[in-house]
Amino acid sequence: MAKVKKAFFCTSCGTQHTQWQGQCSNCKSWNTLHEEVLQATKPKAWQVDTKAPLKAKPIRIQDIAVDRLSRLSAQDQELNRVLGGGIVPGSVVLVGGEPGIGKSTLLLQVALAVTGKVVYVSGEESEQQIKLRSARVTEESSECFVLTETHTQSLLHHLGALSPALVIIDSIQTLHSDVVDSTAGSVSQIRACTAELLHFAKSTQTPVFLVGHITKDGAIAGPKILEHMVDTVLHFEGDRNHVYRILRAHKNRFGTTAELGIYTMAQEGLKAVSNPSALLISSESVGLSGHAIGATVEGIRPMLIEVQALVSSAVYGTPQRSSTGFDNKRLNMLLAVLEKRAGFQLGAKDVFLNLAGGIRLDDPGLDLAIMVAVLSSSLDVAVPKGYTFAAEVGLSGELRNVPKMEQRMQEAAKLGFERMVVAKGVKSVPKGLELIRLATIQELVSHLF
Ligand code: TYD
Ligand code: MG
Repeated sequence: MAKVKKAFFCTSCGTQHTQWQGQCSNCKSWNTLHEEVLQATKPKAWQVDTKAPLKAKPIRIQDIAVDRLSRLSAQDQELNRVLGGGIVPGSVVLVGGEPGIGKSTLLLQVALAVTGKVVYVSGEESEQQIKLRSARVTEESSECFVLTETHTQSLLHHLGALSPALVIIDSIQTLHSDVVDSTAGSVSQIRACTAELLHFAKSTQTPVFLVGHITKDGAIAGPKILEHMVDTVLHFEGDRNHVYRILRAHKNRFGTTAELGIYTMAQEGLKAVSNPSALLISSESVGLSGHAIGATVEGIRPMLIEVQALVSSAVYGTPQRSSTGFDNKRLNMLLAVLEKRAGFQLGAKDVFLNLAGGIRLDDPGLDLAIMVAVLSSSLDVAVPKGYTFAAEVGLSGELRNVPKMEQRMQEAAKLGFERMVVAKGVKSVPKGLELIRLATIQELVSHLF
């Protein structure tokens, strides 16, 4: 009888260990080793036939024929842009996100919209449930096949027979393969199933989307190696209490990771937001103190965003500094600069900061808008109407130029803003927008308040 081989896998880095130990010797994390059953028999090194015909041959790079990567359109401009201009043939895209954020909805919408045959494989919902969902998001009929198969080998058999233009797997954690004996969702199952799908994608040039569950710390569940295996890793995020859903690329072999896709979750499924600024700025806040509009850029897309701040006297001994959507450390730094360079005593004040719409950004160009919002709340003086801000603030209180000023200005002018406060060094003269060039935050204080 063949001996059953077992091994211990680290759930955080995927390293295989022969014995259980409390700490993974590779990534040093504690309590992450889990026992899994491996294949019973494996050929030994000396049993491998080195004379067998080889599949891959070395080839000169200039001799490799490329049929110009003709990308498949996802029929969704946001997703297309995040992927770098459409779906690359043969690519494997992993989409991760919290439960209930809308991963299945997003991918079902793609499945229904893409031209050509699409196979939507679901291990989580029944055919009827998928039908109900599809009836909610679209009325059109399409060439979308639903398959509720979780056995990888049978799945590949069906895919081979249908030869679809796109395959969607919801989710990789529900698949199981004969190659390994452990249960579905375990580290070695996820790795084996992904490897088989990867082979299918590369050998047939069919793009594959995988839905991946995430752990409670926000990482994609399963081995870290999963993220290395696939071509693109997308995260679908957002607050469940907010309507906005943001699609970000964490890794992309075929495009930039700076792009951002914004959706709103409506009754009829996800809707792409083509003009986020209009939604992120509310007209009700004009004339209230503690509000400032920052001109920011995510990837190549400019956005105007409302920064809200509240400064109040601290109730407890240690003042609180809390920010939603922006780095807390950077907020603390900006407050220190205000205190030291502009003489505002904020040491005994609570400061709360919020970027509207539940969006999270780390553009240094927002520094100025944040400072203005804090100053405005602290002085209880509203920022005059029609002002936007785009500059980084240095430690000596100097304003610095930020990249992509042209786009920021265009967006501000398009949305009807009249003035933009920028750093001294900005050269360009935009149409329909007055630039106010300032060197330091002292100048800003005397200009605005
Ligand atoms: P779902 O795609 O099932 O999330 P995931 O696959 O990431 O777990 O999304 C479920 C949520 O989306 C659910 O809370 C209800 C909401 N939703 C709508 O608001 N409108 C819709 O048309 C659909 C299909 C879902
Ligand atoms: Mg789902």
